[in-house]
Amino acid sequence: IKKHRIQGPLTGKKILVTAGPTREFMDPVRFISNPSSGKMGVAMADAARALGGDVILVHGPLSAQIPERVQTESFVSADDLFELVQTHADADIVIMAAAVSDFKPSSPSDQKTKKTGRTESLDLVQTPDSLAWLGEHKNPDQILIGFAMETENLIEGARAKLDKKNLDWICANSISDDGSGFGSDTNTIHLIGRESMQTFSGSKKDIASEILSMIFESD
Ligand code: CTP
Ligand code: CA
Repeated sequence: IKKHRIQGPLTGKKILVTAGPTREFMDPVRFISNPSSGKMGVAMADAARALGGDVILVHGPLSAQIPERVQTESFVSADDLFELVQTHADADIVIMAAAVSDFKPSSPSDQKTKKTGRTESLDLVQTPDSLAWLGEHKNPDQILIGFAMETENLIEGARAKLDKKNLDWICANSISDDGSGFGSDTNTIHLIGRESMQTFSGSKKDIASEILSMIFESD
């Protein structure tokens, strides 16, 4: 029995939260990545914990402090993330906030690549889609929450991902909204469900707890 267990709507639930960017190395000193700080995912982990959940935070390189009383495991690449997601696929709730690279170098070099003075090209292959895999293997009681980052057609794009990946909710995140997106402490998220949409703006911490309260405190 865990001491100081918080009583809340998520008490006794296993919550898998993924956060932060992946890195896809092309040689030992260079990689493909993105500017994700992991702050939104960390805020979601914190908020899930505050509602009583047993949280496992699976994270890439973070520019955010890891919350207390959550279990953590780290990944570097999208392949690492996929392995961890499969290991924890029994979670009651999955919150997939990781910013996953869609591509990786097809044959990373063992040694540092030297410049040649000529034009270079880099061969890329697609990485595994962890959230799509979860959607395919979803059990009926599991709740899957995805994120969608778009630079255009935000709502339509996010809705399409909700359907395609068999999700319950998707958090549509625009990088063009003021004070939103990568690295920022604030954000605007449109929470899209199968029959609803609601917009949340403010600090990532506040938005995270409002979103989880909205989803899990409705009854
Ligand atoms: N995701 C994932 N594995 C990937 C790519 C994305 O698990 N290889 C997850 C993200 O963590 C996010 C959701 O899928 O929760 C949507 O990610 P996004 O990049 O917005 O969409 P994609 O499906 O990758 O489509 P695209 O980038 O082509 O718009
Ligand atoms: Ca993507």
